[in-house]
Amino acid sequence: MLLSLQAERNWESLCLMLEDVLEDQSPRQLLALELGSGTGQHVIRFAQKLPFVTWQPSDIKKESLDSIKEYIAATHEKNVLQPVHLDASESWEKWAGLSCNSCDIIVAINLLQYSSFKTAQGVFTGAGQILRQNGLLITYAVYAINGTITPSCNEHLDAELRQMNPEWGLPDIDVLRQLAYGNGMRMERMIEMEEYYKCLIFRKL
Ligand SMILES: C[S@@+](CC[C@H](N)C(=O)[O-])C[C@H]1O[C@@H](n2cnc3c(N)ncnc32)[C@H](O)[C@@H]1O
Repeated sequence: MLLSLQAERNWESLCLMLEDVLEDQSPRQLLALELGSGTGQHVIRFAQKLPFVTWQPSDIKKESLDSIKEYIAATHEKNVLQPVHLDASESWEKWAGLSCNSCDIIVAINLLQYSSFKTAQGVFTGAGQILRQNGLLITYAVYAINGTITPSCNEHLDAELRQMNPEWGLPDIDVLRQLAYGNGMRMERMIEMEEYYKCLIFRKL
């Protein structure tokens, strides 16, 4: 089982955010797709705290898929499906057989800053197709705003990411807003989280 210390630190605030955002949805069973699930720690906590949501974890890496399976086996969470291989930079038709208008929620936690712009384009194009009407795409990251990164610790984070991989870096909120608009969604909320992280909530119109 993989262990992410950051996931251990932030799962609780992410659960509180999800409870808040989904407050008016709880009477009905929802389907949520998690992109770039990583270790699987988050999806297990989300399933425990939000029993009215069935969670579909996914990732591009085999080691992540194996880890997620181990967390599911260890916790016996019933509302987490077996993880699927899904490359969010690919066209939505290749998203593990998920059909159009099939999901209520898509979450991408710490995915956009650790992947290429092609992945961001894939996430928004895919969400525009896979989400049901009124469905939500929720992204969690540290962001640039209209081309500017502040304060200096975030500039350092951006430089570090770009050193690890020139295609990585802090995503720009204004660019994401445009991607959303071009795919039939609009950004309806920005929620401040810890240490300059934010959650952006996009709704499919
Ligand atoms: C920084 S980790 C975040 C993992 C987890 N969401 C978390 O916050 O602990 C980024 C994850 O995104 C996955 N990833 C990167 N590019 C991807 C892509 N194009 N499609 C799907 N997953 C991707 C990586 O394999 C990795 O597990």
